[in-house]
Amino acid sequence: MKKTYEPLVFDYNNMTSAYIGEQGITVKELAQMKEAAAAAHKSVKENRGQGWLGWTELPYNQKDIVADIILTAKKLRRRFSAFVLLGIGGSALGPAAVFQALCHMRHNELSKSKRRAPKFYVEDNVDPERMASLLDILDLEDTVFNVVTKSGSTSETMSQFLIITEMLKKAFGPDAKEHIVATTDSSSGNLVKIAKAEGFKTFYIPQGVGGRFSELSPVGLLPAAVLGIDIKELLKGAAFADRAARKSDFKQNPALAAAVTQYLAIKKGKNISVMMPYADSLKLMADWYAQLWGESLGKAVNLKGERVNAGQTPVKALGVTDQHSQVQLFTEGPFDKVVTFIAVNKYRAEVKIGGGYDAYPSVSFLSGHTLNELISAELSATEYALTKNNRMNATITLPEVNAHTIGQLMTFFMLETAYTGALLGIDAFNQPGVEEGKNATYALLGRAGYEGKAKDLNSRPQKSESFIVR
Ligand code: PA5
Repeated sequence: MKKTYEPLVFDYNNMTSAYIGEQGITVKELAQMKEAAAAAHKSVKENRGQGWLGWTELPYNQKDIVADIILTAKKLRRRFSAFVLLGIGGSALGPAAVFQALCHMRHNELSKSKRRAPKFYVEDNVDPERMASLLDILDLEDTVFNVVTKSGSTSETMSQFLIITEMLKKAFGPDAKEHIVATTDSSSGNLVKIAKAEGFKTFYIPQGVGGRFSELSPVGLLPAAVLGIDIKELLKGAAFADRAARKSDFKQNPALAAAVTQYLAIKKGKNISVMMPYADSLKLMADWYAQLWGESLGKAVNLKGERVNAGQTPVKALGVTDQHSQVQLFTEGPFDKVVTFIAVNKYRAEVKIGGGYDAYPSVSFLSGHTLNELISAELSATEYALTKNNRMNATITLPEVNAHTIGQLMTFFMLETAYTGALLGIDAFNQPGVEEGKNATYALLGRAGYEGKAKDLNSRPQKSESFIVR
């Protein structure tokens, strides 16, 4: 029997003036967006698969790659008990988010027989204490390292690579290469050259797929497959959300509706986008979203070269935890935010709240309910409190968290980002600000070819002691 899938739902009632008064978007403002929304849709549609929109085709054009990934993953699962991903930014956030969403929440702590996959570590920083602590717990003999870098030259990832390869070579000589899988661009950068020379198993990030849009390429698919996640289902979910975005009428296209309403929110001075899933399994999805939204939309100039300093600052929050932390600010602070809740209709566990304290009615009212009811009630309560205080909020509802809905959710966000970029008239796919930092790091550490940058860095004004307090 053919499986039926439920779509994610985007509800923006509470962004409209009908619910939050003058802070909200009016019916007229929505109506006025019809043409601009259709134009944004058209520009994404017409450029699909071209330039930096190569990621739009990933759900459809990876048949052979997926077969290779599944085969490789099977071997790695059998051979190794730890899988370490070395990468940063778009080469790390997606794999970490998908792992958290779709694996057991205590995956690494499960016994080997229950885990049925290697332990998983995403190393996306160069804090020496973190690296040292990782090396303390790893058994190199049982560990495979997936070095992921699109550019093949990012200092953080290549430093980790150098540390690990030196250790592996010392321990295993020529067999060291069995412990490394590279994921990188097929032509540019150094990693691909090293990988070829050393004979590493290598997966290629297709052309036109930038870091933050790469989760559904081998960047995310290999680790997911090694962890036992159904990657075909993930891609099916992505295709499902892509089809839901076919219409140019934003009233019939959830990702476009989200883009239009966020765009109008930005125009009304809502410079902060809070992403607040009510599920621990989606906590890192908010981190992944933060990079996607921040790095894509935060731009100095528009496509005409005019200075615009566009963007909306992403903030990560978690329901219900942040109800006892940031929600006070969201409810009563400046009117500069849009809060997007991610709701889950059906959690993968049900936990009953115990009884036994009937003499204390203000405690015992909880008895007989479930944590599922409590978390849903708390989401409704926060939505109510924000709306009552005229705060823009919207809700994305997932039927449940599974490979299909995660494929949907990530595609929804990537399309929303591309549409919003088009509405803002900026290039959502470059990252000159990130490159500036990367180049400065190369210069500071003496990389050849960056002498000019080093000179520039060294000529910056010295810091004044009068502004330093000890
Ligand atoms: O989205 C991006 O392009 C960046 O965040 C990159 O993913 C990040 O800088 C890492 O780059 P690379 O994969 O080339 O090592």
